[in-house]
Amino acid sequence: MACSIAPGKVILFGEHFVVKGKPAIGAAVNVYAKACAGPGRGVVESRQLGLLLDLDSGRVLDKGLLRVYQELSSRIGLTKDFHVIIDSEIPMAAGMGSSAAVAVSTAHALAALKGLDPDKKLIWEVSFEAEKVYHVKPSGIDNTLSTYGGVLYYQGGEFKRVEVKWPDDIYLLIVDSGVKRSTGQVVEDVLRRYEKYHRVMSGIYDAAGALVEEALKALERGDFARLGELMDINHGLLVSLGVSTPLLDSLIWAVREAGALGAKICGAGRGGVIIAIVDEAKLPKVLDKISQQGRKPMVARIDSEGVRRS
Ligand code: PMV
Repeated sequence: MACSIAPGKVILFGEHFVVKGKPAIGAAVNVYAKACAGPGRGVVESRQLGLLLDLDSGRVLDKGLLRVYQELSSRIGLTKDFHVIIDSEIPMAAGMGSSAAVAVSTAHALAALKGLDPDKKLIWEVSFEAEKVYHVKPSGIDNTLSTYGGVLYYQGGEFKRVEVKWPDDIYLLIVDSGVKRSTGQVVEDVLRRYEKYHRVMSGIYDAAGALVEEALKALERGDFARLGELMDINHGLLVSLGVSTPLLDSLIWAVREAGALGAKICGAGRGGVIIAIVDEAKLPKVLDKISQQGRKPMVARIDSEGVRRS
């Protein structure tokens, strides 16, 4: 049996604006998808979702995982004699890169089952093919973060690793609104607004680009108070794109009022998760406020390793 874990991700700054060529910053977090591969008959199943792929009967409930199998079959000669069980802590369709982490952990575990010490480049390439099945034109940020871990600055298809000394007393808080949404649909709506108010929007997009550059400097310097304020500004810009909702805003205001350094939507918006950065001294109050709203927050840290055996 070979088991591998792959991290989910958050977008710290710049989602949506990145679609029009502005930079963004994402981080892998210690919330994982785990895949365990053993001998079997070409089956992939999920503890949360049941059967996803059964090559024997030809049942394909997840075309991305079929692509993982096909890619590994042609690249390393994987045959149909495996049984994979996936167990994921990452909420689905919530902006945390769940599909990428599932593809990355599955590819890694299957390659390990074949007796390989899987090379990250192989895992990245295979998972990117799976991402193309899920999202017509993926930026690649999700499977890159899940494969390599860490914090990445991303622009126009190029990724640069950001060296961040994240202090032990600063927490990354993630709260799931529980509302599922389609990234593609939200992106389409945002692009429609961009075209309709082009003169107004181009100023907002330029501001978002400048904001990400400021955030990069603050991250490299370890200035988390500034980073929090920049998160708040980033959220304001996302509101102007029309991707917030009363529920997301109420979660964001709840954590801010309880003392978070900053908070914003994470990912496409209209649902999914919000993120906040919180100082240790304020953490109990923030957690208390969120649980009063009936939510179970995730207190996360950066995962700097990416996919690995577990
Ligand atoms: O799928 P999500 O929620 O992580 O959002 C993706 C980020 C967007 O910028 C909205 C879209 C994209 O392809 O970059």
